[in-house]
Amino acid sequence: MPEPIPFIDLQAQRRRLGESLTRAIAEAVEGGQWILGPQVAALEERLASAVNVKHVVACANGTDALLLVLRAWDIGPGDAVFVPAFTFAATAEVVALAGATPVFVDVEDDTYNISLLSLKAALAMVRRDGVLRPRVVIPVDLFGQPADYRRLEPFVERENLLMLCDAAQAFGAKLHNRAAGSIGHAATTSFYPSKPLGCYGDGGACFTNDSGLAEALRSLRAHGQGADRYEHPRIGINSRLDTIQAAILIEKLKIFPDELTMREKLATRYDAGLKSNRIRTPVVIDGAQSVWAQYTIQVDNRAKLQADLKDQGIPTMVFYPIPLSKQRAYAQFPSAPTPNSQRLSEQVVSLPMHPYLDEKTQDRIIEAVLKSLG
Ligand SMILES: Cc1ncc(COP(=O)(O)O)c(C=O)c1O
Repeated sequence: MPEPIPFIDLQAQRRRLGESLTRAIAEAVEGGQWILGPQVAALEERLASAVNVKHVVACANGTDALLLVLRAWDIGPGDAVFVPAFTFAATAEVVALAGATPVFVDVEDDTYNISLLSLKAALAMVRRDGVLRPRVVIPVDLFGQPADYRRLEPFVERENLLMLCDAAQAFGAKLHNRAAGSIGHAATTSFYPSKPLGCYGDGGACFTNDSGLAEALRSLRAHGQGADRYEHPRIGINSRLDTIQAAILIEKLKIFPDELTMREKLATRYDAGLKSNRIRTPVVIDGAQSVWAQYTIQVDNRAKLQADLKDQGIPTMVFYPIPLSKQRAYAQFPSAPTPNSQRLSEQVVSLPMHPYLDEKTQDRIIEAVLKSLG
């Protein structure tokens, strides 16, 4: 069998960062403030300026980041929160954990992001039923591409909804020069290791221009503490970021713009190499810059393609094999019709994608895909 290749090569990045990362980790350990230490505040500042928002509140992971915002907005029982059916479980999970009701919405079949038409249908359904209060929409910037906020924003405004943008997969992405994180009433991201900007454990962050919200988030991530550590005006959670993770992220941020350029170049090469009427390559909307967290294609015979590539030592992943609206844990919740999510769950497959994928290896992947599909 040809030499196996990794789906994501995080060790290549580790080698590039070398001593500077080792030093940053050692300093975080020696500094002795292991949770929410000075590197966390420094990271929050750097992220705020990178994204161009007033406030960044770092926390333990991208799931908590979503939950913290919902809690800060007092979303709970009787509230409807609209989420895409084609996303990672965390997007809907936090809604249920907050005690509110996730309402599933279909996605566009070419960009994989939330469909405005389906959102309109889901909102009309909730209004017609008259049981739940429509409160929040959580668009997801799936696979690294911002949702179509140019169309979502006026709708959300008109309908008096809050918009929480789940940019877990899209830190660094842009839409008409607005950075993911700066769009919506609040946004969140994840620093899970395999994300475009990932740490060496779990990490996440909330982004907002709303000072009151930022203050509530800081309180909620630390057990709802008030001015004094043992005074609790709110019921919070423990979702603090470790100092080591912040130190790692600060180092990784230095090479991040270069890595995004490398990802973009690889995506362009995939697009060009995979031109075939048997493959639907990803569509990026006008004015959007994806960070290519995944390079995801659609094919008719996915099982054969995956098996053929595996034989060639090429790993693939399916994000996501079952729409959330069809998952056992979530089937009880209301849903608009989701035909696109259903079809995508049967046809999508993600190919190896990371900044350190060399052209020769990428050509090997492209050749193997074309050969398998005939
Ligand atoms: C779309 C989406 N939302 C939320 C999350 C949750 O992030 P975390 O794993 O950091 O909790 C993820 C992570 O995989 C994600 O892909």
